[in-house]
Amino acid sequence: MNEQVTSEPVLKVLGGFLAANYLFAANEMGVFAAIGSDTKTVEEIAALITAPPRTTRILVDALVATGFLQKENGRYQNSPVAATFLSGQTPMDLRPIINLWDKVVSPQWDTLVESLRENRQTFGLNEFNQQQHQFFAKGVATLTAPSAQALVQQYDFSAHQSVLDIAGGMGVFLTTILQQYPHLQGTLFELPVTANMARQRISALPIADRTHIAEGDILDDPVPTGHDAFILANAIHIFSPEKNQAILRKIHAAAPDNARLLLIDFWTDPAHIQPQFAALMAGEFQIFSGEGDVYSVQEVYDWLEACGWQPIGHNHLAGAASLISAQKA
Ligand SMILES: C[S@@+](CC[C@H](N)C(=O)[O-])C[C@H]1O[C@@H](n2cnc3c(N)ncnc32)[C@H](O)[C@@H]1O
Repeated sequence: MNEQVTSEPVLKVLGGFLAANYLFAANEMGVFAAIGSDTKTVEEIAALITAPPRTTRILVDALVATGFLQKENGRYQNSPVAATFLSGQTPMDLRPIINLWDKVVSPQWDTLVESLRENRQTFGLNEFNQQQHQFFAKGVATLTAPSAQALVQQYDFSAHQSVLDIAGGMGVFLTTILQQYPHLQGTLFELPVTANMARQRISALPIADRTHIAEGDILDDPVPTGHDAFILANAIHIFSPEKNQAILRKIHAAAPDNARLLLIDFWTDPAHIQPQFAALMAGEFQIFSGEGDVYSVQEVYDWLEACGWQPIGHNHLAGAASLISAQKA
């Protein structure tokens, strides 16, 4: 055996599972919100989260070990990361992503082996209960919001009149674009269950009167016409290469000359290994639809060209997400 080889990487990955579960528990029990901007003893935290002091100490010490809390002279406070993203006290509230991982992704991944072995969908939208639909839609919206912000900084929508956001979820991309460009009209195209949740969110926004919602299935229904820019974000990873090319052809048929197509996803390198988060998410997409995957930039360029689109470029947006843009050839 090579002397250099240690078990460290194995234990590190397994420790990640434990750390994630402490994070889920702390989030569900409201630890970060309870501590707020204060310092607190175990007893004070225990009283606030209504748990025994002995078990609260197990939880908060593990959170110190993983860097989400800091401990000094027997008092605990939120680390800068927890204070900023997990305490609910700033606009950068990432708790919906923790809920998504805890209440949706975690039970989904109990079915990973089944999905891989049997090459089938084991836990998709049809298996979600009502609460999981909410956690999914809100978690995805929080996860993709930084990409939507990056998109409006990078791409100039001035020349466009109307944007269609296909499989647009809660409409994070569409509403971010419309807020930035007051002359634009927009349509969100979504399955009915998600369209209903998006309708509620969008009706409270100042851009509500410029935002239309079309219920439909991108595989079975026609693409709404009258738009000159098309967003397809985090949807191609749900489908097989064959279905994705059918979708790209369908959008092409509904698009005017020179229309732009903006594809946002976890596009990878040719080996499907980088970015690492993209490679890891491939299993999620497989579980979700039974045919999902991550795709490389070159694969998508080839599909675009085969479907009448001229690829324009590939740009990083946020985290592992990037943008492939194309024009109707
Ligand atoms: C990962 S979410 C992405 C949402 C949004 N585009 C974003 O990036 O924030 C995928 C979305 O695709 C929608 N979807 C899945 N299958 C669809 C279909 N056949 N037709 C239309 N929408 C679909 C889901 O309802 C879900 O909201």
